[in-house]
Amino acid sequence: MSLHTHIVGVGGYLPERILSNETLSTMVDTTDAWIRERTGITQRHILAHDQQTSDLAVEAAKQALDDAGLTIDDIDALIVATTTPDMVFPSTASVVQYKLGGKGFPAWDIQAVCSGFVYGLAQADGMMRGGMFQRVLMIGAESMSRIVDWKDRNTCVLFGDGAGAVVLENREGEGGMIGSVLHCDGSYRQLLMAEHQHNGHEPGKAIDFSMDAAGVAAIEMKGNEVFRVAVSKLGEVVGEVLDKYGLQKSDVDWLVPHQANIRILNATAKKMKMEAGRMVITVDQHANTSSASVPLALNHLYRQGSIQTGQILLLEAFASGFAWGANLIRWSKS
Ligand code: UT7
Repeated sequence: MSLHTHIVGVGGYLPERILSNETLSTMVDTTDAWIRERTGITQRHILAHDQQTSDLAVEAAKQALDDAGLTIDDIDALIVATTTPDMVFPSTASVVQYKLGGKGFPAWDIQAVCSGFVYGLAQADGMMRGGMFQRVLMIGAESMSRIVDWKDRNTCVLFGDGAGAVVLENREGEGGMIGSVLHCDGSYRQLLMAEHQHNGHEPGKAIDFSMDAAGVAAIEMKGNEVFRVAVSKLGEVVGEVLDKYGLQKSDVDWLVPHQANIRILNATAKKMKMEAGRMVITVDQHANTSSASVPLALNHLYRQGSIQTGQILLLEAFASGFAWGANLIRWSKS
């Protein structure tokens, strides 16, 4: 029997504070009806003034470790996918390692925006197959509310904060990670970006909804152009990953997509000919949480008790860059 990368623990965390469409419509010129109809979003979670991305990551990681029946001492490497690090440096992963009480093992961030978790899973799987690590804690965590321009109705309605995590283990046994495909095309980079450096956030300081603070990044997006390319590239990448690993659309039991817009999700589900109810939808509850989105969707599905051992999951994401990709997993966690 050969070694495979298995998911042995799953966790997620959404901050307590909820910002509804109704409340947002008192801040910018929008309506609950427009947001629901064009995006499927009803609310988003916003982190507290004294929380940072690392705090959200820690909560998700604790749940994943607990779920795996492991502690931080059992971990060989820690990766945080984030677009909204606590600071420019050190990495958020090193802060998370410290806050979890770990020491010594490697910890680093990766940045592929909304595709960060899909990229990270592929990276961790490759390193684990190569024998470098036995157990990896892979987290996607974001405080998007800190880089959103709260005066821009085109973008501020779309994003939220949160974190999701998995514990990966390299061991013998059926199933686990089947494989991944990743892509990037930097010629699209200006269609979705935050040009300025994220300036971090001082604990205790109120979220600057005015966006007057110098250095605060603000998301700029050509929404419908992003939408068009996202639908097309996601349609291609789900076909590509299935072809690469010799599977059919009908072999996929669960589609676990990046949660950006219900209309993008539905387009991919249609392309996949997924039966109703076989695609995870969480965008309504927490909007686009960037790199936290895919692990939060996975956590949602897992906590529902819906995934059976041996079932095939297809994870996919599309992000600024543009960077996109997909992972195939045969579920091996009982
Ligand atoms: O995470 C990966 C990357 N992100 C995405 O995948 C997001 C991709 N894009 C989208 O999800 C959609 O393009 C949006 C939800 C951002 C916009 O939906 P759309 O159907 O593409 O609308 P649009 O940009 O074509 O705008 C239609 C109208 C415009 O008004 P006019 O120019 O037609 O008068 C906008 O100004 O809707 C207006 N609009 C709004 N109206 C009310 C834009 N945002 C809002 C808003 N409330 N919040």
